[in-house]
Amino acid sequence: MQKAYFCHMILLDGKIAALSVKNELKEQVAKLRADGKRAPHLAVIIVGNNGASETYVASKVKNCEEIGFGSTLIRLDETIDETVLLDQIKQLNDNEFTDGILVQLPLPKQIKEQKIIQAIDPNKDVDGFHPVNAGKLVQGLPTFIPATPYGIMLMLQYFNIETKGKHAVVIGRSNIVGRPISILLSSNIPNGNCTVTVCHSHTKNLKEICLQGDIIVAALGKPEFLKADMVKEGAVIIDVGITRVEDATAKKGFRIKGDVAFDEVAPKSAAITPVPGGVGLMTIAGLLKNTLQAYSNKYQNR
Ligand code: GUN
Repeated sequence: MQKAYFCHMILLDGKIAALSVKNELKEQVAKLRADGKRAPHLAVIIVGNNGASETYVASKVKNCEEIGFGSTLIRLDETIDETVLLDQIKQLNDNEFTDGILVQLPLPKQIKEQKIIQAIDPNKDVDGFHPVNAGKLVQGLPTFIPATPYGIMLMLQYFNIETKGKHAVVIGRSNIVGRPISILLSSNIPNGNCTVTVCHSHTKNLKEICLQGDIIVAALGKPEFLKADMVKEGAVIIDVGITRVEDATAKKGFRIKGDVAFDEVAPKSAAITPVPGGVGLMTIAGLLKNTLQAYSNKYQNR
């Protein structure tokens, strides 16, 4: 059945926006190759067999292929010692033909995430998680913007969403999404210049704060958390959630749910990202852009 939405509602379709970024990158790679240069190369490491992580890394590798990047997928056993992963990272740091290194998170319990993140050469840290790169982001210096916040900024740009002077409410303060997107949206950059409120698990009056949001970024990882009564009419809604929710009627036994109750929020919003098909696809676009950036930085001064 056809649903009625806010009459000017824009569906922020990640497929269209990501395709535009990927086509641009594809052309840039083709030009490099035509000039006799090698293609950028991304190395992805997965430890264990987490179902969602498997899907993400497969998609990252596939997207590299689609635009002409080289890629290497390295699989390590769930039970490995931290030193095995550190050795692997060192090899990739030292490999001249590896431009980007990505260690898929989360990692098994015996491995300290921060130790791994800090072992990656900041010049190859296409996730932008290394403290050197996170610090640069805070100070507005050129860096690798973490892929999901980067993807959100590319999405805002593609759909020409006005952000200057708007109140952006970010729900979630993770290093991967909430914190960096709050910094970007408040920065003096295109698609920035918002007044930003960062909400988290200790926030009081969350509903009242959300109701003030011209833009809401939901990045807390709770399926269908953001309800219609928390959203102002005409708000722009960015849904970062990707949670697998068990559903016996679904082919795979689960459905992907966002952090936004889409069906009730969409009719009130001016623009909204779907899940799936929204921010998730843009994350890959951000990662690919970072990988080309890492490659270009390397050869810039030669
Ligand atoms: N796990 C969930 N999101 C991400 C991401 O952006 N990068 C990595 N490496 N792992 C993740």
